Amino acid sequence: MERIKVSAPGKLMLMGEHSVIYGHPCIVTAVDQRMGVSIGESGDNIIRIHAPEVGLDNFSLAIQNLDTAEVPKGAKFITVGLRNFFRRFENPIGLTIDTSSEFSSQFGFGSSSAVTVGIIKGLSEFFGLSLSNRQIFDLSYQTVLDVQGVGSGFDLAAAIWGGTIYFITGGKEIKRLEVENLPMVIGYTGIKADTVSLVKKVSELRTEKPEFIEQIFSSISSLVQKGKVLLEKEDFVNFGKLMYANQELLDNLEVGGQKLSDLIYAARNAGALGAKLSGAGGGDCMIAFVDRKDKVEVENAIINAGGVIINARTGAQGVRIEK
Ligand code: PMV
Repeated sequence: MERIKVSAPGKLMLMGEHSVIYGHPCIVTAVDQRMGVSIGESGDNIIRIHAPEVGLDNFSLAIQNLDTAEVPKGAKFITVGLRNFFRRFENPIGLTIDTSSEFSSQFGFGSSSAVTVGIIKGLSEFFGLSLSNRQIFDLSYQTVLDVQGVGSGFDLAAAIWGGTIYFITGGKEIKRLEVENLPMVIGYTGIKADTVSLVKKVSELRTEKPEFIEQIFSSISSLVQKGKVLLEKEDFVNFGKLMYANQELLDNLEVGGQKLSDLIYAARNAGALGAKLSGAGGGDCMIAFVDRKDKVEVENAIINAGGVIINARTGAQGVRIEK
């Protein structure tokens, strides 16, 4: 069988993180930094994986050990993805798998979700199955839950469908929004966020103060509903105001952090239309929406506050086959 290469984009959450875990909507955009996955036949019963960005350098395992192999957590998205695909669709065969990423796994751009989608889409094409986007989503989502136990799947939807998406937990609703490139500046804090422990922290807060937390979730949810309409009207001025409001609610969920706040306030003082953290919080990236005339000033303010600007276009194409 012929070697297949696919690539999937990274993502950034625009609005609705954390509450999306509890059945509320969020808005996510795909970014044009991509994860490549190539799959070929190994000719024996061995799976050979070269995926340096998730901690596997020329790693090999026998196909019958897919379930039990000791691999770094990042690489589990590959081995568990393979296992789930073989359980559901094909008899296992030996493969060689290579990944290559245009972005660092430190940014929080979703290297795990992009690699999971890349594996499932790559296998689908390699075996000539042409699985639908929905089938790819469902198998990828199962894989993410198997590996890390929690997650809404928003990042998988961005990697599969691309563009800017309105999304409800587990893919109950996945809707591409009619909006082109967003006027976004991305500031990286240099700190790695730990998504699983932040999700756990919010869940503990919710057990402690259920009414207070549910009220925050509902408020975020209504910001997302309004934000969806504003984005489709390209009303970035009013969308920006909602971003600031969402940030305050995230601070109430205690998922912010000093460095994120420094970069967000720097952007705000330099005239950003809106700014907030993107993703689980604690670190990774903040995003700001800016009027074109203020872009350089906002970027400089973020840099002066200790951030790193990452250039990436939004609304990138979803997973695709590469020639
Ligand atoms: O840390 P990230 O960028 O994967 O974002 C996490 C967003 C959460 O809502 C906290 C979790 C999720 O899966 O939706």
